[in-house]
Amino acid sequence: MHVQDRNLRNLCIIYAQFMHNLCNILEKYAKFMHKLCINYACARQMIHNLIDYKNKAPFVGFFNFTTPYLLVIDPELTKQIMIKDFKHFRNNEFSTLSNKKKDPVMALNPFVMRDDEWKEKRTEVAVGMTQNKLKSIFPLIEDVARKFAIYIGQEIEKNSRKTFNARDICVRYTCDTVATCIFAIDGGSFTKDDSAIILMGDKMIRSISDAAKSFLPKRLMPQDVEDFFVYLMEEAIKYRTENGIERDDFLSHIISLKKKKNISDIEMASHGVTFFLDGYDTSSVALAPLFLELARNQKAQDKLRAELREAVGDSSQITYEELMDLPYLDQVVYESLRLTPPLTFSNRECSESIEIEGVKGHKALIEKGLRIFIPILSFHHYFHDPDDFIPERFDHGAVKMSKDKGVLLPFGLGMRFALLQLKAATFEIIRNFRVTLDPKMSTEKVLEIDPDELLMNVKKDGIWLNFEVA
Ligand code: HEM
Repeated sequence: MHVQDRNLRNLCIIYAQFMHNLCNILEKYAKFMHKLCINYACARQMIHNLIDYKNKAPFVGFFNFTTPYLLVIDPELTKQIMIKDFKHFRNNEFSTLSNKKKDPVMALNPFVMRDDEWKEKRTEVAVGMTQNKLKSIFPLIEDVARKFAIYIGQEIEKNSRKTFNARDICVRYTCDTVATCIFAIDGGSFTKDDSAIILMGDKMIRSISDAAKSFLPKRLMPQDVEDFFVYLMEEAIKYRTENGIERDDFLSHIISLKKKKNISDIEMASHGVTFFLDGYDTSSVALAPLFLELARNQKAQDKLRAELREAVGDSSQITYEELMDLPYLDQVVYESLRLTPPLTFSNRECSESIEIEGVKGHKALIEKGLRIFIPILSFHHYFHDPDDFIPERFDHGAVKMSKDKGVLLPFGLGMRFALLQLKAATFEIIRNFRVTLDPKMSTEKVLEIDPDELLMNVKKDGIWLNFEVA
C-alpha cells in the first residue's frame, strides 16, 4: 500500500499499540506453546479502539505480525469495497483456512472459497433463498417457533415463573429450524436434552473456532462430524426422491442442482452444512441477546407485544408477508443486531490493485494482496447513545438508510433466512410471555462476551432470563 499522505502515515503508528497488545496476548497464551492462538475478545476490543481515528482518516494501516492490513474507518469506503468496486475485493481471508483434500465439505462453503469457484458456489446457495422458497418453508419455521413457545409454557406450568439460559433455548430453536428446513427431520431439541444434531453442531463450531485461531493448518470439520452431515443429507435426499415429495424449498433446490449440474454428493452435503452452520449457530448467537434486550427494556417489550397481538387479532395466525412487514419487530431485530452483531468484523483481500480516495482528496493505491478489515461492530457505534437499546432510532425507514450509509452491516448472504428465523421466534415468544432479567443476571449494558469464540457470543452461562405468561 502506498499511503501518500503524511498525516495518514503517522496514524500507522497505532500499529505499535496493536503489537503491544498482541504481545500481551501471546504472553498470556505462551503456556500453550503447541497451540499459539489469538484471543478474539482482545482483537475485537483493539479494533474498536482504533475507531477513535474516525474523523481523522478514511482508513488506517496496521500490521498483524508482518502482514499489513488496511482498517476501514469511513463507511463510505466500505460501500466502495463491498459494492462499487467489489470485483477487486471478492475474496476474504478465511479462504486461507480451508483445504479441499483435508476438508472436502467445509472447503466448499462460500465463506472460505475464492475467485470463480466462490462465485459459482455462492450463486448456488443464494438461489436457494428466494422469497418464494422462504415463503414455502415459513410453515416449517412457524411450527418450530410454536414448539418453542409450547416448551416454555410447559416448563412454566410446573412453576408459575421459569428461569432459562437464553443461549440454551435459542440453540434448541435454531437447531430445529435448520434440521427441518434443510435435512427435513425433526431435531427434537425441545423434547430431549441430548439432540445428536446439537452435539455434532457444537463439535463443528468448536473445531472451526480452534482452527481459525491456530497458527498451524488444521481441519475445520472433524471427520465424524463430516460423516454425520453427509449421512443426514444423503438420507434426506433419498427420502424426498423415493417418496416423490415436491416442495419449493432448499432441499429441492439442492436436488435440482444435482439434476442440472450434476453436483457431487460432497457438494450437496456442503450446501446443507453451509445452511446449517450459519442458520444454527449465527442465528442463535443473534437471538439470545435480542431476548435479553427486551428483558432489560420492558417498555420496548410492551410496545412490541402490542404490535404482535394487534397483527394477529383473534386468529393467532400470521402470514409470511405480515410477519416480515411488522415495523417495530423489524426495528427491534435490527437494534439488537446493531448492539450485538454475531460477526463483529468482515475482511476482504484485494485481488486487483485499485486507487481509492485518501485524506484530503489524495489517492492511495491498494495493492493486490492487501488485506482489508471492515469493523462491523465499530460502524454499529456510529449512532447517538450507541450502547443503548433504542429501536425507535430506526423509525421512518432508518434501517434501510443506515444500511445504505454503510453503518449497519449485520448480515451477509443468509439475511432473508436469518430474519425469518429471528422474527418467527420473537413473534411466538413475546406475544405469549413476559421476559424479565433473572436476579443473577448482570444489569450492566455491556455483555460479557466469550473471548474464545469467533462469534460475538455471550459466555455460556451469560444470559439468564425469567419467563411468565403475559
Ligand atoms: C443472524 C444470522 C446471520 C448473521 C448475523 C450473518 C452474518 C454474516 C456476515 C456479517 C457475513 C460476512 C459478510 C461479508 O463479509 O461479505 C456473512 C457471510 C455469509 N453468510 Fe451469514 N449470517 C447469518 C445467517 C446466515 C444463514 C442462515 C446463512 C445460510 C446460508 C448464511 C450464509 C452466509 C454465507 C454463505 C456467507 C458468505 C457470503 C459470501 O461469501 O459472500 N448466513 N454472514
